[in-house]
Amino acid sequence: MSTSEELESSIADTFDLSARGYDRFAVDLFRPMGRVLVDRAGLRSGEHVLEVGCGRGSTLLAALDVVGETGSVMGVDGSPGMVQLATARLRDRHSANSDVRLDDVDKPNFQPGSFDVVLANLMVFQLVDPAAALRHYATLLRPHGRIAFSTVAAPDRAFVDALGAIARFAPKLSAARGPFRGEAAIRGFLADHGYERVEITEDVLEIRFRDAEHWLEWMWAHGGRELLDRVPTAELARARAAAMAEIESARSADGDLVLTTAVRFTVAAPKTPARV
Ligand SMILES: C[S@@+](CC[C@H](N)C(=O)[O-])C[C@H]1O[C@@H](n2cnc3c(N)ncnc32)[C@H](O)[C@@H]1O
Repeated sequence: MSTSEELESSIADTFDLSARGYDRFAVDLFRPMGRVLVDRAGLRSGEHVLEVGCGRGSTLLAALDVVGETGSVMGVDGSPGMVQLATARLRDRHSANSDVRLDDVDKPNFQPGSFDVVLANLMVFQLVDPAAALRHYATLLRPHGRIAFSTVAAPDRAFVDALGAIARFAPKLSAARGPFRGEAAIRGFLADHGYERVEITEDVLEIRFRDAEHWLEWMWAHGGRELLDRVPTAELARARAAAMAEIESARSADGDLVLTTAVRFTVAAPKTPARV
């Protein structure tokens, strides 16, 4: 296995484990974020949509509401557990124009020009080779097609401190900050890889937890477990206690822990061939 194949399979494994608990804790970040993403992408009735890294399908459902019976939604994910869960949720909607497939999220296998919109909700920073992936997504779009993705602009201070507390017990990873670290970086990266007409907006989304235990359960149930998984078993109790102490600073007057996350929504169109 090459290094990038190993990385890809470890991301898929993390999400496969997460899939079992994902969204189970009445903490729904992806649904509101998916609705905003669909709105910013300017989805219209009758359009054909691909979502890469569709997870449990929250954004697919939001897209389906807009494209209606004359459009279609297709989700791909690298985790079999996520594909199963998203398929079940779409089946509950009895829609004949939606589907979910297990596929390589960096290079989903579709005919060129199959979609009006490619969506990616909170996943582009997990791509093994984001430059190659963005170039591939451009080929899947029809003329006038667009890509829309969300990234975190600013996490809650308490969340950063709690992750920092866990990280003290885990081996350090290299501190590469990636092409999605800020607005200027995103614009430059998209221009370098064949996109233009970039529009970036920000919204602040809130997630609520009953208490620190609830927050920690949720951490195990999404991509955050990747950090927890790196803590040696003998240190896990101390890492948990340190993180729970930090997250307490998000306690609001009504008694809940409230984390606010600034989310960045980016929409861009592939350059016309003459300008690539
Ligand atoms: C944060 S979740 C996405 C939530 C989802 N978009 C939604 O709106 O509900 C990220 C998803 O991307 C998938 N994913 C991200 N990078 C991946 C990779 N390199 N290989 C396989 N799957 C990946 C994960 O399996 C996971 O389901």
